[in-house]
Amino acid sequence: MRPDLRNKELIRDQGYINGNWVKDAKEFFEVDDPATGEIIAKLPEHDIAVIDSAIDAAYDAFNKYKNVLPRQRATWLRNLYNLMMENAEDLAKIITWENGKSLVDARGEIKYAASYFEWYAEEAPRIYGATIQPGIPNNRVFTTRQPVGVCGIICPWNFPSAMITRKVGAALAAGCTVVVKPDSHTPLSALAMAVLAEQAGFPKGVFNVVLSHHNTPKLGKRLCDHPKVKKITFTGSTGVGKILMDQSSSTLKKCSFELGGNAPFIVFEDADIDLAVDQAIASKFRGLGQTCVCTNRFYVHSSVIDDFTEKLVQKVKEFKIGDGLKDGITHGCLTSTKQADKVTQHTEDAIKNGAEVALKGGPMPELGKNFYSPVVLKNVSQSAMVSKEETFGPLCPIFSFETLEEVVGYANDTELGLASYVFSKNVNTLITVSEAIEAGMVSCNTGLFSDSAVPFGGVKESGFGREGSLYGIEDYTVVKSMIIGNLPDKL
Ligand code: SIN
Repeated sequence: MRPDLRNKELIRDQGYINGNWVKDAKEFFEVDDPATGEIIAKLPEHDIAVIDSAIDAAYDAFNKYKNVLPRQRATWLRNLYNLMMENAEDLAKIITWENGKSLVDARGEIKYAASYFEWYAEEAPRIYGATIQPGIPNNRVFTTRQPVGVCGIICPWNFPSAMITRKVGAALAAGCTVVVKPDSHTPLSALAMAVLAEQAGFPKGVFNVVLSHHNTPKLGKRLCDHPKVKKITFTGSTGVGKILMDQSSSTLKKCSFELGGNAPFIVFEDADIDLAVDQAIASKFRGLGQTCVCTNRFYVHSSVIDDFTEKLVQKVKEFKIGDGLKDGITHGCLTSTKQADKVTQHTEDAIKNGAEVALKGGPMPELGKNFYSPVVLKNVSQSAMVSKEETFGPLCPIFSFETLEEVVGYANDTELGLASYVFSKNVNTLITVSEAIEAGMVSCNTGLFSDSAVPFGGVKESGFGREGSLYGIEDYTVVKSMIIGNLPDKL
């Protein structure tokens, strides 16, 4: 269903390079509406020559932009935040149209996305260095933080807006310029952002967007091995993260990667079960389970597992699943059939390993090929595939446990470590478990913690680097030391 936009200028079908809209391509790729399967855009399939021109533009722009007064960069970022908020409803509709999440969810994403521009508008003038006591007599040592240079920003389809703003906000605040490569399922949000970045006042070449579908591996490699690009940042799968890291080694680029998760959600026997159930729904079903921080495994104490499961199933039955652009819909569809296949595979495997079906769920072909009704499984075995792998879809596998030590062991029994959740009324339990859990983020008694103020990132194979917060900007800067020697003796 084509959304009715107030600001029709936001829909673009060209790449954005050096302040120009470029259609320059021999081939085109199609973007579809995952709810209806309709083709909603035909976009240029950029090749190496186009990405090289975007990198050159960003490189030339960097040489001026790095010296722009941080206060001015802050003003442009603030303008961009204001423009996103003024266009919030249209931007949310674009997300739903290309990604399939419900409009309620997409509105939340736009507020969240814009908040990174607001946050980094405030951080831009606050990039500090240090004065350090030297070890050598008659020396003085100072540091400054300088922008790293041109950043290659490779973004996923699950948050078509927020995963761009979280990276671009910090990069532009630091004085870097960017070449953004959105996912081919969801490029329209990135193009709408380019429209607004231009209106916000950013100079030509500072913000560039290149487009591709089947050329993506080639363009990704080009960003990684191009000597003018100084940093690669990527949100997506661990497998692709490893390839990009490998490709970045030839030029020893600075990298930050936010990769897959396998979030445990632990409910102790003393937890407020109603709260835990509400928060479980919020965590698990944001984007219908297609976020890296969504709960992947519920570990519920054996004494409360029946109560928790029953209440969770009741809440899930209240969902109104359908085309996200329609009124009253609480949950939209999956972005592609690949996600649906994974949910089915994990469900079948867990049942084969002894899980009980608490809510059957499954594909909803009557609505469309990407619609999937949530599945709830109880007493899932730790040997099921889902205990180790991320599902990225609407499957709630509930495992049972007896002791704190046992559940921490289960939670850490994975190569991944992004988000985790702990529910208990006992602060000792919260602190003990938070300290023992191998994850970049531990969310206690809440299922929604995403906030531009929070350092976001993982450990183990969930990646490295922190986005958002006071730390996010560090990844876009390098510390320069200035040493002055042979000064006169102190008076
Ligand atoms: C993600 O899924 O990668 C990001 C989720 C978030 O920022 O909350």
